[in-house]
Amino acid sequence: QAISSSEAATVHSASDIDALSGIDWDNFGFGLRPTDFMYVMKCTLGGEWGKGKLQPFGNLEISPAAAVLNYGQGLFEGLKAYRTEDERILLFRPEENAMRLIAGADRMSMPSLPVDSFLHAVEQAVLANKRWIPPPGKGSLYIRPLLIGTGGVLGLNPAPEYTFVIYVSPVGCYFKGGLAPIDLQVESFYHRAGPGGTGGVKTIGNYAPVLKTQLKAKGKGYSDVLYLDAVENKYVEEVSSCNIFMVKDNVISTPELKGTILPGITRKSIVELAGSCGYEVFERPVDVEELLAADEVFCTGTAVVVNPVGSITYESRRIKYNGGEVGEVAKELYEALTNIQMGRAEDKMGWI
Ligand code: COI
Repeated sequence: QAISSSEAATVHSASDIDALSGIDWDNFGFGLRPTDFMYVMKCTLGGEWGKGKLQPFGNLEISPAAAVLNYGQGLFEGLKAYRTEDERILLFRPEENAMRLIAGADRMSMPSLPVDSFLHAVEQAVLANKRWIPPPGKGSLYIRPLLIGTGGVLGLNPAPEYTFVIYVSPVGCYFKGGLAPIDLQVESFYHRAGPGGTGGVKTIGNYAPVLKTQLKAKGKGYSDVLYLDAVENKYVEEVSSCNIFMVKDNVISTPELKGTILPGITRKSIVELAGSCGYEVFERPVDVEELLAADEVFCTGTAVVVNPVGSITYESRRIKYNGGEVGEVAKELYEALTNIQMGRAEDKMGWI
C-alpha cells in the first residue's frame, strides 16, 4: 500500500508510541530500532525505475534465487538526519551518498539511481519517520539505503530485477562508552581488500568477512580491528567500519584512496574541514610504524562520526595515545563537524 510522507507521519499505533517513549535518549547506542515506514522502488535490468512508495517497515519478499542472496550483488549506504533546536530536520551531504551509490552500482553491474531520485527517496523516508528523529543533540536518525539484485538467477549473471530500499533507525554513539577513546588491534594475517577488488565501494560483501577478526579482537577486549594493505602488509588501510587519521606535529594524514579503502563521506569532510581550520592535511600511504609514532589517532565514519583512538596494538606492542584522554585535534574536528551537522554552526561549506 502506498502512503504519502505527510500521511505516514501522522498514523501510529499505541504500541508504536510506547516503543518510542521507551527510548532513553541519553543512553542509547547504535542498534536497530525498527521504525514506521520504509521506501521501496523497483527496476528491471536495462529498464526504468518504477514509482517508489512508502510502505510499513517490514520484511521484503524475494526469490531464494535472488542475486543478492546467492552472489552478493548488493550495495548499501549510510547517512544521517538531525533534528535542530528550532525543529528543522537536516541531512548531511546526501548527494555524496547518491554519487557513491552510482559509482558502486557501476562496479557491481547494477542499474544506478539518478541523484534526484535518491534525494527524493531519502526525504520521503525521513519525513515519514520524523517522530523517530532523536531530540536535538541526543543522536540522529540513521538512514540505510540498499540497492540489491532481487531478481532470481542461477548462472552467474546480473539480476533481472533490482530493489532500492531505504529504512531508518534512531541511533546514538557507535562504540560503547560514547566518545571515549577506542582500543584497536592491527590485523596482519587477514585483509579487508586487495588491489583491483571492491574495497573502495560500499558493497555488502566487504562487511561479513571482517566479523571473524572483529569478534576475535572484541573477545580480547579491543573495540575493533585496523587492517593493513594486502600487498606489503605494512600500510594502514581502514578499520572494519570507518576510516583512520593520524596527527604528527599538528600535520594530519590519512591513507589515500586507491581502490582498497572506502571513500568515506565523513573522511572527505574531515579532510576539507581540517584544511579550513588551518591544518596541513595529506592523503598518502601511512606506514603502520608511523601510526604508532603519531601524537594522536582518530577514526571517522557516518556511524562513528569522529572517534579518538586511545591505543593501538600491533603484534606484541601496545601504544597509548594522549594518556587515555580525547586528543585535542579529534576534539576540535568533532566539534566543528557536529556543529555543522546539527545546525549549530553556519554551514559555510554548503553541506546541509
Ligand atoms: C557507516 O558508517 O554508515 C557505515 O556504513 C558503517 C557500518 C558498518 C555501520
